[in-house]
Amino acid sequence: MTTLTLLRDGDAENTAISLDISHTIADIDPLIYGGFTEHMGRCIYGGLYEPENEHGLSDSRGFRKDVIECFKELDVPVVRYPGGNFVATYRWQDGVGPKELRPHRPELAWNGVETNQFGTDEFMAWAKEVGTEPYLCLNMGTGTLEDALAWLEYCNSDKNTYYANLRRKNGHDAPYGVKYWALGNEMWGPWQVEQHTKEDYAKKAVQWAKALKLQDPSIQLILCGRDGCSDWDRYVLQECIRWVDMHSIHYYSQGKSHYQNVTSPYAAERAIQVTSALIDLARCEIDLSPFPDVGRITTGPRSSHRPKICFDEWNIWDPERAPGDKGAEQEYTLSDGLAMAVWLNIFIRNSKDLGMATVAQSVNVISPLMTSPTGLFKQPTYWPLLLFSKYMRGKSIAVHVRCTAYQGKTSPEWLQSTCDIPKLDVSAAIDGEWINLAVVNVDDEKSYKTTIGGAPSFPSSVNIFRMGVTNAL
Ligand code: AHR
Repeated sequence: MTTLTLLRDGDAENTAISLDISHTIADIDPLIYGGFTEHMGRCIYGGLYEPENEHGLSDSRGFRKDVIECFKELDVPVVRYPGGNFVATYRWQDGVGPKELRPHRPELAWNGVETNQFGTDEFMAWAKEVGTEPYLCLNMGTGTLEDALAWLEYCNSDKNTYYANLRRKNGHDAPYGVKYWALGNEMWGPWQVEQHTKEDYAKKAVQWAKALKLQDPSIQLILCGRDGCSDWDRYVLQECIRWVDMHSIHYYSQGKSHYQNVTSPYAAERAIQVTSALIDLARCEIDLSPFPDVGRITTGPRSSHRPKICFDEWNIWDPERAPGDKGAEQEYTLSDGLAMAVWLNIFIRNSKDLGMATVAQSVNVISPLMTSPTGLFKQPTYWPLLLFSKYMRGKSIAVHVRCTAYQGKTSPEWLQSTCDIPKLDVSAAIDGEWINLAVVNVDDEKSYKTTIGGAPSFPSSVNIFRMGVTNAL
């Protein structure tokens, strides 16, 4: 939580940041530093998987070792897979078993061909190597509940049953224990194969959730929300809340000018606040029908069940510069790096409501990390991710910021009339003995001399990490 006092431009010398370390807001869930890998463009093939290995960068399984090192450096705790829009026609069964028998299929989301050379078992092996938790998204487009139950059985069952035995036959005795499962992706979108109305989706999501939790009560289900500020979000939460553990929202920030670009993430902060209120609204209206006799679901009216938000697609994306059907390879600038840091500040400030966030995407597709056959490049958006993942841990703490405001055009336009937009965007965390402060100066020309107060005593040791252009230091 940040409170603001906005100064007039002429008062900029009174800029100040004040921390309140006795006011902890919430634990920062480590899962906010999650990633996302979709069968799209060069994310999987040519990104994390390159069995051709012409330059010796892959291991014996075809996994790019340099990419794995970056995931480890970023300490990515969870990775969403296999889509995204891709999932709406994905048959997981095509991607398991002997590789030479796996069918090639038309891929309708990005208009390609899916060779299925990388599938569930490869992803699980890759995730194990990285040391990250898998988060699987179910196909609620062309896929059936039967397919979904079969995938869950394949991944998690230790019984003597058909799909568990198929996993064993494919060389994987132990269940993978996949905890996080999404009930579809962007089911509301006109671009989806099998777009749903909110009523149809909610009805189906309840039925799927019930069956999936019967099969494995230990899983966590993520409901498919929209951008957090829509009637879709309100309705599906109201209908499905007691069956799900998190509510997913998506938003990509963008802006033609620097200021529009770096302030656009504020729409995500608003989305989190609105979704949080929608979750509470849905909790008030929980109705035990239509399945009053299902004894396994322990939540109900007046229960403490409060799903968190899963921001499972977020990033800076200009679809004109980086079209999806051409692989969405976006070259990022310093302005984008600052926008990324604003995004991450938003997650820290709103840690009370966030159960997970997965940047979309992790390799090559609108990504901080770009590969080529001979190496990889870390974009300007990589460095804030690294700094936040290393240092912004523990508990978020309250901050007061006194600074001037940005008052020009915003993207989306409604931001300017809805939020205060400070020139200094700040979040703070306390982690053991360390107080960590993240400050983004979004001003495109001015530096601000800023007093920092509120620490119990002057710290004996201060480390400063600065991101910017050299001549601005
Ligand atoms: O991340 C790129 C795409 O953006 C995803 O496939 C889709 O879910 C979203 O629209």
